[in-house]
Amino acid sequence: MNAPLPAGVLKQHLIDPEVCIRCNTCEETCPIDAITHDSNNYVVDASICNHCMACVPPCPTGSIDNWLTVLADKPYTLEEQFSWEALPAEQPLPEAPIDDVAAQTTEAPPVVADEDRHPSLDGYPSTGAGASIPPWSAAHPYVNLYTHKNPITATVVGNYRVTADDTESDIRHIVLDFGTAPFPVLEGQSIAIFPPGVDENGRPYHARQYSIASPRDGERPRYNNLSLTVKRVTTDYDAKPALGVCSNYLCDLKKNDTVRVIGPYGNTFLMPNHADANIIMICTGTGSAPMRAMTERCRRLRKESAFQGKLMLFFGARTERELPYFGPLMNLPKDFIDINLALSREVGQPKRYVQDLLVERAADIRTLLDSDKTCIYVCGLKGMEDGVLQALESVVSGAGLQWPDVHAQLKAQGRLHFETY
Ligand code: FAD
Ligand code: A2P
Repeated sequence: MNAPLPAGVLKQHLIDPEVCIRCNTCEETCPIDAITHDSNNYVVDASICNHCMACVPPCPTGSIDNWLTVLADKPYTLEEQFSWEALPAEQPLPEAPIDDVAAQTTEAPPVVADEDRHPSLDGYPSTGAGASIPPWSAAHPYVNLYTHKNPITATVVGNYRVTADDTESDIRHIVLDFGTAPFPVLEGQSIAIFPPGVDENGRPYHARQYSIASPRDGERPRYNNLSLTVKRVTTDYDAKPALGVCSNYLCDLKKNDTVRVIGPYGNTFLMPNHADANIIMICTGTGSAPMRAMTERCRRLRKESAFQGKLMLFFGARTERELPYFGPLMNLPKDFIDINLALSREVGQPKRYVQDLLVERAADIRTLLDSDKTCIYVCGLKGMEDGVLQALESVVSGAGLQWPDVHAQLKAQGRLHFETY
């Protein structure tokens, strides 16, 4: 896309609405707020976008990486992009001499030169809070094996509730089997699922993303299956009643139902593969899914004496009864995983968030962070990101270290990862 263009012509950066899974990663990553969305589509404002490419590598589907040639003074407007169901075909440009085209031109957004392109393109840390590269020993992931044009069908082989029945939080453990179809995944990756049906505009629902909760060799070892941890959404973010389309579809699935799946996604939020790596996991609610996957991977490796690292888990939920997988989690050996539960609505107990526990356990976290074999993963509510960063800053500065330096090093070494939604 950096090939020279005639004057007055622009490669407009656009998002393919058919492929986009509306995960918000691009909007979060864009350092200059050129990306926005409505209830239909994610769109790029041509008057702001400077083609820095920061948003391109983190996009799980590649839908962000579309460039159409347009007249620089007539880029597609936000309103046009909001209304699209598919990208328009490339339009032939008018057969005017270049000078005439240039004469019509208002100022085009600058195209960023190669040397000024965003460093995340080169595998260096992004400007975001987490690393844009995986740890050095991570296994190589497969991504985008199945797309919206060729989704794969999986069969539901299990669906049970992992929170107490009489609580508000209906969180399900759902096991999907892929039969003989290849679907290789790694811990930390996610998939997306198409709910059946169409939205209020008659468009097929877009796919929703879910973290994989099982390790690479399957929910049941050596089976071609995987599990998800799905929370039934019954209110919107303002706590008004709203039935989430995909979460309700998934939570109501019965054994032998089939679902349409795309993915896998994710090439940075991946666990280290060296036997003496330490993993600090920080999560709330369904953010426990990738932590379950990593923990189970380590547990299986440990049985073969192939894992000797330390695991430290900080897990936030309203109450014990609303904490997914509470029973199995508490049965894990204490010398295998150091579990810290932050309960916010337990009767008779003070409200605690994961970041409070990080500060309480500062000395032990610092000891782990002294080693460059330690990686940190944060997953769950978007709202916890800032709090967790502040808590890590306080942990590190308690040892007289400068958080900006430690933070930069963690990112550069692919040792700090966020997946929040
Ligand atoms: P929608 O029909 O899309 O939305 C219904 C209403 O609820 C809307 O008003 C919307 O604003 C609001 N809403 C949407 N999502 C939520 C929410 N999470 N909490 C409260 N209100 C909401 N979800 C899981 O359950 N488990 C996972 O492991 C998981 N992993 C994810 C990983 C990534 C990278 C991302 C981006 C998201 C993940 N999600 C996960 C969230 C999931 O993709 C859906 O957004 C969620 O299930 C809601 O979809 P829905 O179709 O049910 O709701
Ligand atoms: P709260 O009781 O304040 O909602 P949920 O059940 O909604 O998925 O939330 C999981 C846990 O995350 C709850 O204990 C919730 O507490 C907590 N939580 C909410 N906001 C934050 C935040 N900003 N930082 C950390 N934890 C949070």
